[in-house]
Amino acid sequence: MQTHQYDVVIVGAGGAGMRAALEASGEVRTAVISKLYPTRSHTGAAQGGMCAALANVEEDNWEWHTFDTVKGGDYLVDQDAAEIMAKEAIDAVLDLERMGLPFNRTPEGKIDQRRFGGHTRNHGEAAVRRSCYAADRTGHMILQTLYQNCVKQDVEFFNEFYVLDLIVDHDLSAGHVPDGEEVNATGVVAYDLATGEIHIFQAKAIIFATGGAGKIYKTTSNAHTLTGDGMALALRRGFPLEDMEFFQFHPTGLAGLGILLSEAARGEGGILRNGDGERFMERYAPTIKDLAPRDIVARSMANEVREGRGAGPNKDYVLLDLTHLEPAHIDAKLPDITEFARTYLGIEPYTEPVPVYPTAHYAMGGIPTNVDAEVLRNNTDVVRGLYAAGEVACVSVHGSNRLGTNSLLDINVFGKRAGRTAAAYAKTATFRDLPEDAADSVIATLDEMRGRPNGERVSDIRRELQETMDANAQVFRTEDSLRTCLADIRTLQDRYKNVSVQDKGRLFNTDLLEALELGFLLDIAEVVVIGALNRKESRGGHFREDFPDRDDEKFMLHTMAYRRPLDDSATVESVDGTEGVFSEQSVFDTYKVMLGGKSVVQTRYEPMERKY
Ligand code: FUM
Repeated sequence: MQTHQYDVVIVGAGGAGMRAALEASGEVRTAVISKLYPTRSHTGAAQGGMCAALANVEEDNWEWHTFDTVKGGDYLVDQDAAEIMAKEAIDAVLDLERMGLPFNRTPEGKIDQRRFGGHTRNHGEAAVRRSCYAADRTGHMILQTLYQNCVKQDVEFFNEFYVLDLIVDHDLSAGHVPDGEEVNATGVVAYDLATGEIHIFQAKAIIFATGGAGKIYKTTSNAHTLTGDGMALALRRGFPLEDMEFFQFHPTGLAGLGILLSEAARGEGGILRNGDGERFMERYAPTIKDLAPRDIVARSMANEVREGRGAGPNKDYVLLDLTHLEPAHIDAKLPDITEFARTYLGIEPYTEPVPVYPTAHYAMGGIPTNVDAEVLRNNTDVVRGLYAAGEVACVSVHGSNRLGTNSLLDINVFGKRAGRTAAAYAKTATFRDLPEDAADSVIATLDEMRGRPNGERVSDIRRELQETMDANAQVFRTEDSLRTCLADIRTLQDRYKNVSVQDKGRLFNTDLLEALELGFLLDIAEVVVIGALNRKESRGGHFREDFPDRDDEKFMLHTMAYRRPLDDSATVESVDGTEGVFSEQSVFDTYKVMLGGKSVVQTRYEPMERKY
């Protein structure tokens, strides 16, 4: 076992992690630990753009952007955070430009901007061109630019190191911390994939930037690596997860595959049609039509299919029509996604509409933080030395539904804030002693999995989990479907206790890696479903057919999910002061997941009915 000491340790080398590293590494000794090579991180899959009210091509301002974000998130957005994001968006884009990012340009040489869903002029009048982009490879360009700048700045990377535990001085998963006591994060335990060796990183400040959890679903735009690791590690240490029931389904996944076809296709003029050739979004969002926010478009598509107006032999998808666009325009603005349609479906987008259907895309929820990226351990207290940014975090700028292009923005704005705050804290803090047995439980888990001669196969449990999530916790949900899903998850959790791996070796044991990832997926799926069961209303990406209306009176609150030992007598009321509606509880073996509520921060926007 090796041990290391850094002032700041960043877990994850996607956009948020590397943006944080650029801030922190200039100030204090910083290491980035990543289970992937940085340039393979999922930020690279983001396509259509990063929004900022630059007003380069038409009138715009950050206040309109804030409003759109709040309304897009169905008023569950913390408005102070959304305001910060929209204001700082402008510098975030300019920072990237200065770092060398090759944005598309207007004929005058300014950064070009395109339309995207839910981004409007003057509080909903019409779609506005707010998204800065590099063809349909914006995330790829951001990732490469950040990585090059990290290399230039000599950031230290530990690539293909998998973080398996967070070390804290008070383990909340063992029970409630009495009022007034501090909780500190002091290090992480990592597994080196190349050698199988365990490494302990002692740190004054730790930033989680580990991304999302899309692989809880079968049909997803997410990479295989998006297994909710950081979220699950926080949950297992007794820290809350916020708003996990809100999962975004991107409208245009390639039908049957889920591979992302950027919303930029509609921003550039693409139109959704049903099996009758009708532009159906005119019925659902008469003002901005195909450029309505994703929750509305995804539901409308699913509804067309349910009501028998789908396309194809089984009428089970709709069509994205680009055939009226000039091929030269398609080639210049949408080269990658049109190539995906040719490669994976054999469709020529110049002449044929592309079959599409919603695909699981983004977790609006995550580890709760304040606007300085400090992790919260309840509604008010921070975990000292622990930060989170990007999809793993919930700050909450996306509320119950994220607008397209706000995620590349989120990672840049809050990644930068996390790096700055963590470095400032590390300058004043001292290293705290780590327990002698800090790595023992990780080592025991690895030995047990490797040592089990035979047992359940990882791929079987994962497939069954993804199938039940797709069938029961997707765009439409009901009490019955969610209860079925939770029961399935329970069975799979039981079977997981007997999971075994075929590769018993130490070097590059990806079999073992997948088994560990599956444990995280099961933890996250459970929290998503419990939150969805409890929220007896429909809001943003969470649509309950049995409760189709938004209920601000009861549910204008963030959900906070806590995992606690069964014998912990603390109630959510005593942790959070939440009353009433957060009654759902889930008990499994030795722990329970309890739900609490947290107030939504409202500044200038009163909740309204959401119409487009
Ligand atoms: O459609 C897209 O290009 C995805 C962008 C996003 O999720 O922000």
